[in-house]
Amino acid sequence: GSESADDLSILYSNRAACYLKEGNCSGCIQDCNRALELHPFSMKPLLRRAMAYETLEQYGKAYVDYKTVLLIDCGVQLANDSINRITRILMELDGPNWQEKLSPIPAVPTSAPLGAWCPAAETASNQERDSSSHHQLGLTDENMFKILKEEGNQCVKNTNYEGAISKYSECLKINNKECAIYTNRALCYLKLCQFEEAKQDCDQALRIDDGNMKALYRRALAYKGLKNYQKSLKSLSSVCKVAREELFASLPLKESIQKNI
Ligand SMILES: *[C@@H]1O[C@H](CO)[C@@H](O)[C@H](O)[C@H]1NC(C)=O
Ligand SMILES: *[C@@H]1O[C@H](CO)[C@@H](O)[C@H](O)[C@H]1NC(C)=O
Repeated sequence: GSESADDLSILYSNRAACYLKEGNCSGCIQDCNRALELHPFSMKPLLRRAMAYETLEQYGKAYVDYKTVLLIDCGVQLANDSINRITRILMELDGPNWQEKLSPIPAVPTSAPLGAWCPAAETASNQERDSSSHHQLGLTDENMFKILKEEGNQCVKNTNYEGAISKYSECLKINNKECAIYTNRALCYLKLCQFEEAKQDCDQALRIDDGNMKALYRRALAYKGLKNYQKSLKSLSSVCKVAREELFASLPLKESIQKNI
């Protein structure tokens, strides 16, 4: 029953963080809307709503919110990274005219000092500037893992292998049981001719899944880079063996026999 718009806005924004953490994106969006009605252009509810929209794959709305955050403060790394990622998704989904489908980006008043638009308690922490603040924004580990992995994959597409390695390494701090992170990072190490590191990542992937073809193949390439041709050959033979087994398992018996495998 508080009369104070500031307090209420913070409460809604904080509850939104809890909803986001619970994976209740629509609950999060509802509370962010309320917080933003009371305090337009306040950073945290905008970011939280953007993440919720992104999780719901409502990329156009997420884009608008992240963009608004950048208009308020262009130094928010998380928003910048997200904009770059979502732009690519929207271009793929909607084609070259993707921007026409967006709702208008709200005009952020520039005359007002930033602080006036951010409830006091919300501006206390300045750590939104680096991406390690995902946690503070109420993101679950699982969501954070997904986002970091996607960011890593995007770095690979942009041939930014150092960037990808750093994203994948962040992923591994959250969950070190997913093969794909090791095999992806191994690919990056291969591209950078860091063959020993590539081999180690493949070894790790193979400890989790000993028939992982990408890991076997990339380990063969790593061994080749290390000029250990015997082990490279052995790894390649394993790739062939697994490939044959997989093909065999995926074909109906009769067809397998006809194809003589
Ligand atoms: C999400 O939060 C809203 C708002 O409190 C609530 O009505 C809804 O039941 C919640 N949904 C789930 C799946 O928990
Ligand atoms: C934001 O991303 C662009 C690439 O689209 C980059 O040129 C720019 O330096 C980034 N800004 C910040 C603050 O990271």
